[in-house]
Amino acid sequence: MGRLQPGILMAVPRIVVLASLILTVMPLCAQAARGAYTADQAARGKSLYGRYCAVCHGDMLEGGAAPALAGETFIKSWGQSTRTVDDLFYVMSSSMPKPASGSLKPDEYLELLAFVLSRNGLSAGDRPLSADAATLGALRLARTGADAGGRATAKQTYIVGDGGIRPTGKGPSATELQDAEHSSDWLYHTHDLHGTRYSPLDEITRDNVTRMQVACIYQLGSTETFVTGPIVHAGVMYVTTARLTAAIDAATCREKWRYNWEAQDAELTPHNRGVAIENGYVVRGTADGYLIALDSADGRLLWARQVARPAAGEAIAMPPLILGDLVIVGPAGSENNVQGWIGAFRLADGAPVWRFNTIPKAGQPGFDTWNNDPNVPVGGGAVWTPLSVDMERGEVYVPVTNPAPDFPKRVRPGKNLYTNSLVALDLRTGKLKWYAQMISNDDKDYDLTQVSPLFETAVGGRRQKLVVAAGKDGIVRVLNRDTHEILHQTPIGTRFNEHAPITREGTHYCPGTLGGIQWNGPAWNPRTNLLYVPTVDWCFTTKLDEKLRNVPGSQYMGGTPQPDKQSQGFLTAIDASSGAIRWQYRAEQPMVAAVTATAGGLLFTGESGGDLLALDAENGRVLYRFNTGGAMTGGVITYSAAGHQYVGAASGRGAVMFGGGRGAPTIVVFRLRETGQAH
Ligand code: HEC
Repeated sequence: MGRLQPGILMAVPRIVVLASLILTVMPLCAQAARGAYTADQAARGKSLYGRYCAVCHGDMLEGGAAPALAGETFIKSWGQSTRTVDDLFYVMSSSMPKPASGSLKPDEYLELLAFVLSRNGLSAGDRPLSADAATLGALRLARTGADAGGRATAKQTYIVGDGGIRPTGKGPSATELQDAEHSSDWLYHTHDLHGTRYSPLDEITRDNVTRMQVACIYQLGSTETFVTGPIVHAGVMYVTTARLTAAIDAATCREKWRYNWEAQDAELTPHNRGVAIENGYVVRGTADGYLIALDSADGRLLWARQVARPAAGEAIAMPPLILGDLVIVGPAGSENNVQGWIGAFRLADGAPVWRFNTIPKAGQPGFDTWNNDPNVPVGGGAVWTPLSVDMERGEVYVPVTNPAPDFPKRVRPGKNLYTNSLVALDLRTGKLKWYAQMISNDDKDYDLTQVSPLFETAVGGRRQKLVVAAGKDGIVRVLNRDTHEILHQTPIGTRFNEHAPITREGTHYCPGTLGGIQWNGPAWNPRTNLLYVPTVDWCFTTKLDEKLRNVPGSQYMGGTPQPDKQSQGFLTAIDASSGAIRWQYRAEQPMVAAVTATAGGLLFTGESGGDLLALDAENGRVLYRFNTGGAMTGGVITYSAAGHQYVGAASGRGAVMFGGGRGAPTIVVFRLRETGQAH
């Protein structure tokens, strides 16, 4: 090709930057010595990268809403003998840029690869990089010998804090947590173990809500994704990003402490949905698969234990649940073909107690619902959203997500248990008590995401104990907790082809693969007998891949989803007795922020566009609106502190795929202006 550039030496200094990692191109053949790509390709790749990738992977490939594409961890992960540059190219060109997978031209993907290689120490040369599998397969990123810098890179899978593993902080007690439904704090991700998202606070009402104003602001000073669900106990609020945990005064936003987790392993999907607390412990998961416990008094690390394996595609994003002496958590990563599980760990030191395989192993019940070709790896069944608990029955409810590969269901005939199921486990032993599968043999990536609220109301003239199951298919189902029967279900938003199979030519369907109910689920108001549900209304067209290919631990979708240009959001009020829609509020963008109902007759939520909203719970009228300046895709809560009711919300740098990239992680706290106080 006539585009030889004298840029061969330009990449050399980068090797110096990565001095501790001696990179070799293996085998060291003559072609490799002349470089793996042309400088021209890498330059074009750089500009494509800025346009299509930097928003998630960071301007300098350092990571952000997505993993880093350069540096030590990246090389460690892609330098493994089980993975090749051809695998890397496949993952990138079939599943990126999210959510419009595979939407660039073949040459553009090569240019992007050249750019990524250039940032990982490989030199440019006179021959262009080609998509030939053998050539790419021979280019292996590898670390050789002992690390030149002598730096210990071996990760520690169990770390004990300097001051020991006992916290000095106090509360809340296990009893307080079990009674959180009546608390004016916000003690669990969804307010209480029943996940009602309903607060008994009523200082802020329909009549005075226009007097709401910003009380204080806390900027986390981070560029990470911010989808945290804040927790408040005794006037202190706990918030997270992928690595940071911070405690602030819930009335003044003054920082009490912050703790930054230094990743020990590869970080896939660097998102975090928040902490769980009990008796002085603040516990959270990390993107590199650790469960960590901090002291609520000062943020000191008590212990950290790696419970999930990034090499197998696992990351922890969900808010853990603490029940007495157990922490319950499981890994995200269905798209990475994880073999899903949910497990309990000892609060005192993180030691494993029980584990339930959401994808049964050979010999376990449910394994026979996967009649796949033994050569085709199947998995999925990740968990990335909050759990709920029925204490009377001793049952913990788990929202199990989609099967993998996501789209070609023909390779996994059968029901594919326990994917897309509400799974009820004995909370002491992890044994299966019952399950209800919402979609069998799913091929739309319709994760079940919500297994709350748990509540009681009359259905068919009879008072019944209920649980809501809802997910990305946009259907809100109400089940009886005694009979496990679905009593009524309410589809929300556009519906089209949702039962049509995904084809090679492409299937257009609604809700799309990023539709329906995402990580924040319904709120329940006993006074109005309504459920309030945020949803995404967004259609997709997905094409099946010609060939199915699995790179262990990486994206394994089996198809390329393309989102429609148009999307919108709804907040829908559903009659809990009948399933009828009472009112609906429409937003310009997907609605993924949390919704909170209060005894003051209000609903608080946020829009991806950045507005915090207070609505009349009876009719959905917007009574108060405030532009927080950053996208809102995380928690919105209410609590009492310093004698007043506050509303706290996550704003800025929200989930990019839902239009949430704007702003930087910030907590915005509101309260009523005193009467007589000037505007
Ligand atoms: C909307 C956010 C988003 C955009 C835009 C995006 N990515 Fe990604 N990317 C991700 C996420 C999230 C992952 C991690 C997926 C997982 O769990 O394996 C990822 C993973 C990757 C990986 C695998 C990394 C690893 O270590 O396993 C590569 C390579 C990659 N992306 C390249 C690109 C390129 C090139 C572009 C631009 C064309 C791009 N991405 C655009 C979100 C994004």
